[in-house]
Amino acid sequence: MAREVTVGTMAPLFGLVTLALSLVTPGLAYTQQPSVFTFAASGPGFQLGGPGLAPEIRVAPNDLPGVKRVANDLAIDFGRVLGVNGTVVVADWSSTTAQKTSSRPIILVGTMGQSSLIDNLSSSKKIDTAAVANKWETYTYQVVQSPWDGKDSVFVIAGSDLRGTVFGVYDVSEHIGVSPWHYWADVPATKRQYIWANSVTRTEGPPSIKFRGIFLNDESPGLTGWGRTKFKVSQYGSPFVTEFYQLIFELVLRLRGNYVWPAMWSSMFYLDDPRNGPTATEWGIFMGTSHHEPMARADKEQGRFLKGSWDWRSNKGGVQAFMEEGVTRSKNWSTIYTLGMRGSGDAASATLTSAALEEAISWQQGVLTRVTGKPLSEIPQAWVMYKEVPGYWQKGMKVSDDVTLLWSDDNRGNIRRIPIGNEPNRRGGSGMYYHFDYVGDPRNYKWINTIQLQKTWEQMTLAHDSGIQNIWIANVGDLKGLELPTAHFMALAWDRKAFSDFGSTKEWLKVWSARQWGKAAGDVTASIMTRYGKLTSRMKYEDLSRTPFAFNTANYDEAELNFNEWTALLKNAQAVHDSLPKDVQTSFWEVVLHPIVAGRGVYEIYTKTAMGSMYQSQHRVSANQLARDVQTAFAADSAITKQYHSILNGKWNNVMAQTHIGYNNWQEPASHSLPKLSWLTTAAKNALMGVAAQGGTAAFPGTARLTLPAISPWIAPSDQRWLEVFSRDNGTFTYRITSNASFVSVTNAEQTLSTPATTQIRSVISVDWASAPAGVSTVGLTVTNLNATGTTATVILPVQNNKVPADFKGHVEANSVVSIEAEHYSSASSSEYIVIPDYGRTLSGVKLPPKTPSQPAGKGHVLVYPFYTFTDVSAASLTVYLSPSENANPNSPNKYTFTVDGGSQTTVQPVPLNDGSSQPAGWSEAVIQGSYVRKSNIGRIAAGKHELKVYLHEPTMVLTKLVIDLGGLKPSMMGPPESARV
Ligand SMILES: *[C@@H]1O[C@H](CO)[C@@H](O)[C@H](O)[C@H]1NC(C)=O
Ligand SMILES: *[C@@H]1O[C@H](CO)[C@@H](O)[C@H](O)[C@H]1NC(C)=O
Ligand SMILES: *[C@@H]1O[C@H](CO)[C@@H](O)[C@H](O)[C@H]1NC(C)=O
Repeated sequence: MAREVTVGTMAPLFGLVTLALSLVTPGLAYTQQPSVFTFAASGPGFQLGGPGLAPEIRVAPNDLPGVKRVANDLAIDFGRVLGVNGTVVVADWSSTTAQKTSSRPIILVGTMGQSSLIDNLSSSKKIDTAAVANKWETYTYQVVQSPWDGKDSVFVIAGSDLRGTVFGVYDVSEHIGVSPWHYWADVPATKRQYIWANSVTRTEGPPSIKFRGIFLNDESPGLTGWGRTKFKVSQYGSPFVTEFYQLIFELVLRLRGNYVWPAMWSSMFYLDDPRNGPTATEWGIFMGTSHHEPMARADKEQGRFLKGSWDWRSNKGGVQAFMEEGVTRSKNWSTIYTLGMRGSGDAASATLTSAALEEAISWQQGVLTRVTGKPLSEIPQAWVMYKEVPGYWQKGMKVSDDVTLLWSDDNRGNIRRIPIGNEPNRRGGSGMYYHFDYVGDPRNYKWINTIQLQKTWEQMTLAHDSGIQNIWIANVGDLKGLELPTAHFMALAWDRKAFSDFGSTKEWLKVWSARQWGKAAGDVTASIMTRYGKLTSRMKYEDLSRTPFAFNTANYDEAELNFNEWTALLKNAQAVHDSLPKDVQTSFWEVVLHPIVAGRGVYEIYTKTAMGSMYQSQHRVSANQLARDVQTAFAADSAITKQYHSILNGKWNNVMAQTHIGYNNWQEPASHSLPKLSWLTTAAKNALMGVAAQGGTAAFPGTARLTLPAISPWIAPSDQRWLEVFSRDNGTFTYRITSNASFVSVTNAEQTLSTPATTQIRSVISVDWASAPAGVSTVGLTVTNLNATGTTATVILPVQNNKVPADFKGHVEANSVVSIEAEHYSSASSSEYIVIPDYGRTLSGVKLPPKTPSQPAGKGHVLVYPFYTFTDVSAASLTVYLSPSENANPNSPNKYTFTVDGGSQTTVQPVPLNDGSSQPAGWSEAVIQGSYVRKSNIGRIAAGKHELKVYLHEPTMVLTKLVIDLGGLKPSMMGPPESARV
């Protein structure tokens, strides 16, 4: 599709434009859109509003009810911005007198082929509808001069169809200052005194994805508990009645979506409120049902209305009658029919063979045509390739070309399958069912936002560019808490071209944040939420309770540094929140600050529990402080939830009721529970002074001589060397640290520890590299308790002061590893690769663009990484860190090849292939830690200059990090921080 904006002077005729700007340039789409409206007292343009002045919005009587409804929203939206509502007049404006009567600015809203207003302007050539007419969900709006005798100008919003018009209206609303999230995220309207329409024509559509929408799922306790306090519960006990769905439909339409799968845990959309079905259709929403609810009937209807069991083999008659009733009921409504059949509930069927499923789908299609009276090609239908279902397809099942194959992710955001072979050419096309929320193995994640938008961009770009363009539907859980991923997904689905640039996620976030909370908040919020996405991509909250704790508490200070990032992020976000105008703070809190405060709290609980366990084993009194911190964070978590439930006088009561602390299997815990805390309760038998050294778990006096990891000029700045002197009991002592080498110094070399007031002090080590001896040396540090003769700890520090030749460019060995961020390849011969900034757990991701053909082993596009080593190693290895991406193209599974110094090629397939009916081996571990990590032997590496070449074979994988182990690699989740690059 093309996004075209034409800019002109106030031309008398729509067609006479002087300049056309095409906004498809990568990276420019969001920042370079000319503004359609201005808000100064004196224009320029056509005035739509001013003090006490709001427009008259005219709709033709013959236009669709959904257009009259949305015109009313537009009138109220003007009121939200200006303080005075517009008025809607539905009348036949063919009478000239009537046309002349309004003293107010006139907005004409209408649908081509439905509205006499629009069709008259079109036939009199006052507007040019060529770019819109007969297109799917397309709209245009602009000022039209001299539309008829006696009127100077009017503002016209014209849509190609019902949704085209609705989207055009809501697009105007958003541009004058009403957020799609005004209800669901409490974004206040931007108050303005004046609104002028510039002489700019804005034409949008058709959308990149034909059907785009959301699935409300896993909706208890959050959304359901909230709904019960808000809406009159149906006779079947569901709060999801029409007043609720109107709020959902309005949001989806304001996001320019058109598709909804309704809540179904304890609800029956069509029965809970008989107005639900017709309202969706009138408003412009296509309804579907989830993957295991065929033929527009809710899962919960089976228990009430199905005669016999849900089994095609033993109860075909009962099942067929049940399904046919679903079609009969919905035949006059906008429906996308789910076809196929799974087992009862969300489970595989025990009895359904491939042949039986083929028969079932073919029967379903017969019923669809018979009951609706339409040809199959005009009935939207989807067969959801979810969980075990792709296995049937992979075995060669046949279905008619009219069905959309609705592929899915692995419930954790990794697409399982893209269309291959002739599949992109099927009439029914393809779709994607994608998750921002999930209930199931390895663990539920249904509390708050854990989505990295860069990953959504990467996966959904892969989907789109692989031809998945007919349906996109996202499981958005309770919706609350997932505002940001939902907004992003819908924006991508509307206009993929606006996201052509690899860094477009952050650009979109800037524009989006500025629209919600003001210009000043835009850039900084984009940076905050980008960091948030990176932190949650490392591990979802629900997975943190696994033991041992995934982040290493000793090596590379991984656990501590990770938690420090959360603390810095919170400080930053809190400062932004506090600096915002009062009226936007609540909204910012809901979407940005709450997940950071609450998420950091859960990370604090598990990080400090793990650190505390190590401290206890070292006999540190400070273990008790960590245990108390965990208790405080645990209590704070409930307080944060309460706060959420009390904002805006309890508007969101119950919506954050989801448990999230204390998971011990895939299913959520019934209530929160503290992890087992490590208290230090025993008195120190001997020395009062304890000493710990960074990078290890041993401590003095248990271990008399501690050894630090080596220090070198080439380690990452975050990879510090330090000692900690700690109290092993209550008491006071003074210690002194001395070094046997003048080029090594420490901070806090002499301090007094007075416990319980002070329990530990860190001394950071630094080396004066100019005076350190060349090569490898060993420095001894001694820590003496000045109050207890003979209590002295010895700490060994290996110092590696190696020089790199001046002409070398690349990464340098540090502490017997070379750690490389994937994007830091040497520039040559890799222009085909794209770098996705901020993707993944550390810096970024590197991949081939979606349509790149499969690359042969050791040929094709290469990433070159020069590196320099100082020691001869006989058995080096390479660890490769990849996205958790699946083999989305089973004909070409993900593979990479590497060579070192032009030696033999090693090709690795990180994910095994299987029959398509389940997740591949190793999947759980990969999705929990957000990465496939694969290690291969390299063999001998001599000291000196080297070159690592990496070839990615497939566009379905993302490379994030590479670590060459020269004997020094320590266990950790994310690997060592990056080595120096010269
Ligand atoms: C605009 O109309 C709505 C709906 O009738 C009403 O609730 C609101 O108070 C009105 N706004 C103003 C500013 O009059
Ligand atoms: C250390 O002092 C604190 C505070 O007075 C006390 O609660 C704690 O029990 C003492 N610890 C030991 C091991 O005696
Ligand atoms: C410990 O030794 C330091 C240094 O010699 C001295 O200043 C301090 O008074 C001593 N403290 C105790 C409690 O003996």
